[in-house]
Amino acid sequence: MRIDYVETGKIIASLTEGETDDVALMATVVCELHHADERFDWTGFYRVVAPELLKIGPYQGGHGCLVIPFSRGVCGAAARTGDVQRVDDVDAFPGHIACASSTRSEIVLPVRNGSGDIIAVLDIDSDQPAAFDAADAEGLARILGDVFGRL
Ligand code: SME
Repeated sequence: MRIDYVETGKIIASLTEGETDDVALMATVVCELHHADERFDWTGFYRVVAPELLKIGPYQGGHGCLVIPFSRGVCGAAARTGDVQRVDDVDAFPGHIACASSTRSEIVLPVRNGSGDIIAVLDIDSDQPAAFDAADAEGLARILGDVFGRL
């Protein structure tokens, strides 16, 4: 099953209508995303909790590492640069942090609030190589903007 970002976005919008608690929003987003696509083996947020520091937030899948400095990993790169990181082969990404040995590809997007500040990153891991394309980046970014742009 492959995600329909428009339909999933509508479901998330309905479930989160009027909500402004970031943890509740994150928990709902990862739940709906994770179960919408068989490519998504780990779906979760890492929150900006201090300058240059990420800490795990709501997620679905196996355990994830708790703390990631901006200097490390795919998540750190997304938080540091503010750019989407689409990694076709995690073994070729310098400094990739492997929370599961089965992960082959990954996409990480910065999450911005209504002021444009990066408050978190969304990390999705897949056991399939090159699992993510530009349509995934666009669809995920739209959902993140709709949900967290209200904060
Ligand atoms: N792979 C990520 C770390 C988070 S675990 O995958 C859940 C990274 O390199 O930043």
